[in-house]
Amino acid sequence: MGFGGRWLHLLSLGIIVQLQLARAQTASTFFIPDTNTIVAVNLPEGSDDVNFYVATPDWYQYTAIGFGRSMADALMLVMYPSADGKGVTVSPRLSTGNTEPVFSGGIRITLHEGSGISNSDLIANGTCHSCRVLGAGRPSVEATGASPMMFAVGPSIVLNSDDLDARIRRHVAYGRFTADLVRATGPGGVGDPLNTAASATTVLAGDSSGSMVRDSNRAATAHGVLYIIATLAVAPVDTLIAGACRRWSWLHAFTGTMYFLFVVGAMVPGILISREHVVTQQFRTGHQVLGLLTFVIMACMFFWGIGLSLIKRTAKKRGQEPPESTPLLAAIHRWVGRLIWVLLLISNGLGLRLSEQPTLVMLGYAALAGGVVVFLVPVYFFVWRCFKRQKQKDEAIHELQAIYR
Ligand code: HEM
Ligand SMILES: *[C@@H]1O[C@H](CO)[C@@H](O)[C@H](O)[C@H]1NC(C)=O
Repeated sequence: MGFGGRWLHLLSLGIIVQLQLARAQTASTFFIPDTNTIVAVNLPEGSDDVNFYVATPDWYQYTAIGFGRSMADALMLVMYPSADGKGVTVSPRLSTGNTEPVFSGGIRITLHEGSGISNSDLIANGTCHSCRVLGAGRPSVEATGASPMMFAVGPSIVLNSDDLDARIRRHVAYGRFTADLVRATGPGGVGDPLNTAASATTVLAGDSSGSMVRDSNRAATAHGVLYIIATLAVAPVDTLIAGACRRWSWLHAFTGTMYFLFVVGAMVPGILISREHVVTQQFRTGHQVLGLLTFVIMACMFFWGIGLSLIKRTAKKRGQEPPESTPLLAAIHRWVGRLIWVLLLISNGLGLRLSEQPTLVMLGYAALAGGVVVFLVPVYFFVWRCFKRQKQKDEAIHELQAIYR
């Protein structure tokens, strides 16, 4: 049943709603229109428990509520469908900043009847035990007339898991509102929030209570897009120029520098976003290791190239032939350069996989990269042949000149 349906259902139950409103309600119930979510909170007297009830569409990777002002000082309850897609997993998490919150094993949560997935709604009816005072150095839930609360939803990626420590993505939207937790303190639990939703306080609706903030990860997008441009556009151009314009080596010096700067510019946001997620914080994923390794090799080859051109230039100035080792140094520079390109192509693919891109994006990248390779290899081979022939001709002319001198 969609929200509209539920609303009609509520209207038809108007009398019951009235009756239930008349009954002493100690829960604070909120309605968040942007995500069709109902949140109810009750603080039972005589314990440090928190009763919570959340009804939310099941198409978000997760829905989370938090007790506090910011990620760093809030207890967050992250909820997602269980592995079989029928139940709910509620994971209590803490964070030290604006980074992926970490499951906190010491916090106990019980789920009650009514919890589960039904009609594309995820419903969590639970109790967080002793969660009002988690102890020194951890956030506590203060019952004031305007206690800060938070709300967030993940992207529409399926995370059906029983793992309380399941990895989650950065939210697509988050918001902050205040709850009257004094009024929410008392007996009676969370009540029947779905049927009393008409009396819920609407929050995060763009009014004085604040609104949902749409969140996007610009640094991640920049990281991906810049690397794609670097490998599929800048690198091929540079490789062709290096192969075809050997007489004007300053041209390759320029495009090579651009290529290197592009990669540096693409890497920096990648390093910055690495701290956001638990799996990337230690730079141990294949993508990060390969990416950093490739960068180190590339930096070496950048300076190698500068050194090589200095050697050639100095020899020319003195009117000498460059040292005998120069062709070998140049060959290493060329072959390692090609290797770097291959490593970048692979690293990009691993990055797309790490960021859990849809299969279509992965296939698109593979097709594009494959296309560039298939196009470039024969072109490059042709350039190389032409260059070789030109060189042979030059040599022949040199020999002729030597004979007739
Ligand atoms: C992988 C998981 C998460 C990551 C990487 C993440 C990251 C971030 C970042 C970078 C910001 C700052 C956004 C900006 O200034 O534009 C932020 C803010 C916020 N996040 Fe998260 N977040 C995650 C999970 C959660 C969860 C589970 C909640 C639970 C309610 C939450 C609630 C909030 C709220 C309320 C804000 C605004 C207040 C603040 O800056 O702390 N986040 N988050
Ligand atoms: C939530 O759980 C409590 C405690 O078991 C129960 O009394 C209540 O009826 C449940 N609420 C809903 C809406 O299912």
